[in-house]
Amino acid sequence: MKTALITGVTGQDGSYLSEFLLEKGYDVHGLIRRSSVDFRERIAHLEGHKNFHLHYGDLGDSLGIVQVINRVKPDEIYNLAAQSHVQVSFDSPEYTANVDATGVLRIQEAVRLCGLEKSCKIYQASTSELYGRVESVPQNEETPFHPYSPYAVAKQYGYWIVKEYRDAYNMFCCNGILFNHESERRGETFVTRKITLAAARISQVKQDKLYLGNLSSLRDWGYAKDYVECMWLMLQNEKPDDFVVATGEQHSVREFCLLAFREVGVELEFKGEGIDEVGVDKATGRVLVEVSPDFYRPTDVVNLLGDPSKAKRILGWNPQKTSFAELVKLMVKSDIAKIASEGAAKRVKLNLEEYLEKGIVK
Ligand code: NAP
Ligand code: GDD
Repeated sequence: MKTALITGVTGQDGSYLSEFLLEKGYDVHGLIRRSSVDFRERIAHLEGHKNFHLHYGDLGDSLGIVQVINRVKPDEIYNLAAQSHVQVSFDSPEYTANVDATGVLRIQEAVRLCGLEKSCKIYQASTSELYGRVESVPQNEETPFHPYSPYAVAKQYGYWIVKEYRDAYNMFCCNGILFNHESERRGETFVTRKITLAAARISQVKQDKLYLGNLSSLRDWGYAKDYVECMWLMLQNEKPDDFVVATGEQHSVREFCLLAFREVGVELEFKGEGIDEVGVDKATGRVLVEVSPDFYRPTDVVNLLGDPSKAKRILGWNPQKTSFAELVKLMVKSDIAKIASEGAAKRVKLNLEEYLEKGIVK
């Protein structure tokens, strides 16, 4: 039985990758941070599985990482942990560098210190943000990087330290240059999830309006569940290498909104420009989407489109399992159910409070 260690196991990708590896018969170990809230929503359903184990640790703490790696002795490490929000990296640039740059080094060195450099393969979660202020479109493994946020600059260090350890110590480590991938489990402050949650709430009269930043930003959005398979394929390849993982299709934030609102029966029409642009419900004339400068970034990456030919050719990975339209649909569907169930839970709570007050139940 193979053993895998996943950092960032509580995140979107960590949860799907855990399911994927358990399904393949792996013994899966995850690194979790101690926090005051112990409910880990995305992996709660896995916590009773006999091959699923959790260890406390933090990418900022070398000693802890060495201890976990020494205990688990993994055949494969998937380093997914990161301060993963680009906008937040402008507010916390030093923290982001410590986790997203030096954290990668800590993993690589820990593997060496534990004497596992010949046996343990490492996957590093690199990112299309490395292309940043893009120098050409579409982007592939040969496209020059131009990182354009503290997050991307930190991730660039991670990318290069992986390549360095591959050459210097002959270690099997790979960079997956993943373009944006989303899902029902996507963090709620990333733009796609913010939109699908708002569409669900607005349709259930629980929110009035959605405020967004740059509506013209272009992304290559895929489905996270499809992408974790490619992480695994990279570590099964004959030799360590770096791969772009993308769909090869590009859409704007505005387009994402149009599709998401259509799923809840609202036809949006966008009017105006820049900060004055609004998304109006065609049927009622109500303004449902507005632009707020709060969500503009000091520097924004606006033209990402990946070319996944190499992953397709060498790893046999299928980049278009789930289409853009299907992705939007499944995210909105899931959020409609989530918001409806929150309403139901609240109603039960209110009824209970009323019954307690009236002495109907004790
Ligand atoms: P996510 O949902 O934000 O998950 C991030 C994970 O990192 C969480 O499990 C978080 O743990 C953990 N983490 C944060 N700081 C840590 C620290 N100091 N020590 C240990 N763990 C820490 O991110 P994701 O979308 O799954 O992305 C996974 C990785 O891929 C990230 O490295 C991200 O930068 C990269 N990436 C993502 C995309 C994308 O579109 N999703 C594209 C390219 C690259 P807590 O639960 O304790 O916060
Ligand atoms: N978050 C957010 N919120 N973004 C907005 C908003 C808003 O209200 N309005 C417009 N945007 C624009 C951002 O300016 C950006 O151009 C685009 O939507 C996508 O933003 P995010 O969804 O936050 O994702 P990201 O592309 O910055 O970063 C994600 O993808 C990277 C891969 O390219 C993250 O998952 C990173 O961890 C990942 O590396």
